[in-house]
Amino acid sequence: MKSLLGRVEPYAGDPILLLNEVYERDPRVDKANLGIGVYLGEDGAIPVLQSVRLASERIGIQVRGYLPMEGHPRYRDLVCELVLGKGHPAVLAGRVTTIQTVGSTGGISLAADLLAKQCPGRQVYVSDPSWDNHHGLFQRAGFRTSTYPYWNPKTRSLDFDGLIRALREARDSSIIVVQPVCHNPTGIDLNADQESVLSDLLLEKRHLVVFDMAYQGFGAGLDEDAGFVRRFAERAVDGGCLIVNSFSKNLALYGERCGALTVVCCDKREAECVLGQLKLAIRNCYATPPMTGALLVSVILAEAKLFTCWSDELSGMRERMHRMRQRLATEIRALADAVDTKFLLEQRGMFSFAGLSPRQISQLRREGVYLLDTGRMCIAGLTSSNVAKVARCFCAVTKVECRK
Ligand code: LMR
Repeated sequence: MKSLLGRVEPYAGDPILLLNEVYERDPRVDKANLGIGVYLGEDGAIPVLQSVRLASERIGIQVRGYLPMEGHPRYRDLVCELVLGKGHPAVLAGRVTTIQTVGSTGGISLAADLLAKQCPGRQVYVSDPSWDNHHGLFQRAGFRTSTYPYWNPKTRSLDFDGLIRALREARDSSIIVVQPVCHNPTGIDLNADQESVLSDLLLEKRHLVVFDMAYQGFGAGLDEDAGFVRRFAERAVDGGCLIVNSFSKNLALYGERCGALTVVCCDKREAECVLGQLKLAIRNCYATPPMTGALLVSVILAEAKLFTCWSDELSGMRERMHRMRQRLATEIRALADAVDTKFLLEQRGMFSFAGLSPRQISQLRREGVYLLDTGRMCIAGLTSSNVAKVARCFCAVTKVECRK
């Protein structure tokens, strides 16, 4: 008998999540997980932050009724303030709406759905390289996606001229996905001058910008990292922009799936209508968002003591990642002075991109050092116990390629 479903295509799986499963199955004790973008502490485990522990005690067990479609009201207000800062002109003008989302992936997905409904058929541009799921999320909503240059493999740095050229040549009012801080996978961000040139161009071309800010606090600090989106939102008076953020990484709340989508609109009426459309999309998809993560985040953002505790912990995470970059560079140079490690220290956040070949990446994996197939290395997976081994393996594979 023929199945009612017809021919169901197989799905090979997501490269990041699959690699993590392979890592988990690897019985070696000296393996290093530099694949998935998860922050690990010195002990190689995901930390439970003290701020989260205290917030968890504070919220205890309480009535868990359904949240409104758009999420917890306090969470929405507090997250909007964390993203745009206190007293942002767009907020004061009432032209901003923030909704609670299921992680930042859920936020991008809702943004893509909204844009598919409001401005279908536009071209979506994602950096090359980018987090692979950016393409999938917009394609699922019905868009065609293409890329703009970002990484220059020769200089192991930003291809800013290529980026500007591509976005200038793009049709006006295209949809541009921009990662404002701690770019995934390269770890390369725009400097202040580049940010201002890019913002001018985006506004001049009336491109619709979707900011994916998944790593607020991992670059220089919570306020510093939000600077790009805050400045842009202030200038985007006519068009607006969309900003997605997440607490997976900066609060180590991966499984809670708490994120948000903030839409900066042209006026108050549009903001109200956008909120309505987002509520409708949520209602037709998962009805209402989950509660616990939103409560934890709200308590941390609202209470000065807990907020300070979190900021300190965040500084600790940021500094640990920076130390690990330095350690890796030092260890590599101690083994092979000729290997260029400058790129490691110029990049920031969780990821580093060395432009390794597929062959070098498989060789590293055979040694128990897991990087993504693209060569993305999660610096947050380095610890004092594995950094020397990673450096040794890095030198070995780099030299093998050099000799040929
Ligand atoms: C990553 O980039 O590795 C993380 O954001 C995890 C994921 O869902 O891909």
